[in-house]
Amino acid sequence: MSGMHVGIIMDGNGRWAKARGKPRWRGHVAGVDSVRDVVRSAPNLAVTTLTLYAFSSDNWKRPPTEVGRLFWLLREYCRSERAELLENGVRVSAIGRRDRIPRSALGTLEELEDATRHGTALHLRLAIDYSSRWMISQAAAQLARNVQRGALDPDEICPARMEQFINQGAPDLDLLIRTAGEQRLSDFMLWEAAYAELYYTKLLWPEFRGRDLASALAEFGRRKRSFGGLLKIEPQVKVG
Ligand code: IPE
Ligand code: IPE
Ligand code: MG
Repeated sequence: MSGMHVGIIMDGNGRWAKARGKPRWRGHVAGVDSVRDVVRSAPNLAVTTLTLYAFSSDNWKRPPTEVGRLFWLLREYCRSERAELLENGVRVSAIGRRDRIPRSALGTLEELEDATRHGTALHLRLAIDYSSRWMISQAAAQLARNVQRGALDPDEICPARMEQFINQGAPDLDLLIRTAGEQRLSDFMLWEAAYAELYYTKLLWPEFRGRDLASALAEFGRRKRSFGGLLKIEPQVKVG
């Protein structure tokens, strides 16, 4: 699959709820409508990989009631969207740690991963209990194990070998969107975003829709990416 890889830091659910005098978790519930709409729109916008930051490893610092609601919501999402995701050819996979995800949510998530594994229209990656620095450390640990058993020379360690374990088969990020006006990465795809275009919007995540993804992609289309090279090859100067 070759197309665009878009990552979204879905931020601002709490602020959305607060502005409406509602408890924070209502913002997370409202955010699911945005996820659904964006996932529906992505394939029509030439997005073939979409990585959504759903729960960071630092989000464990939040009150247990909020954390519990988020994992309940994840389970509900996996159940309620299953039929549509299958129908639309969406392959779902989770990235991040799995050992701390509550068992009922993990079971439903893995069932969804299994059911949708043949989808080709869109690869939807849900970053859950995700920390980019943790992913990078895991890659280093894996390479160290390979060195230890004599299968790898340390001199052969290079970005391409690290990438095998960090990217997990997904291409590097083309466009990184963050909602709610914050302009930071919060430990999201630090490696894969090496040459990503960054796009910030003041919209809160529950307000974000497929049309806003389309606007971000239109802006992306106007950016010039040269990956350290030169955009135009200058005509060769004739010598003599
Ligand atoms: C993003 O919204 C959702 C998660 C981090 C799970 P927030 O909950 O961070 O919303 P704000 O930033 O407090 O408004
Ligand atoms: C990043 O948002 C994590 C997710 C969107 C899941 P946070 O709201 O947790 O990030 P900070 O604390 O503002 O950096
Ligand atoms: Mg936030």
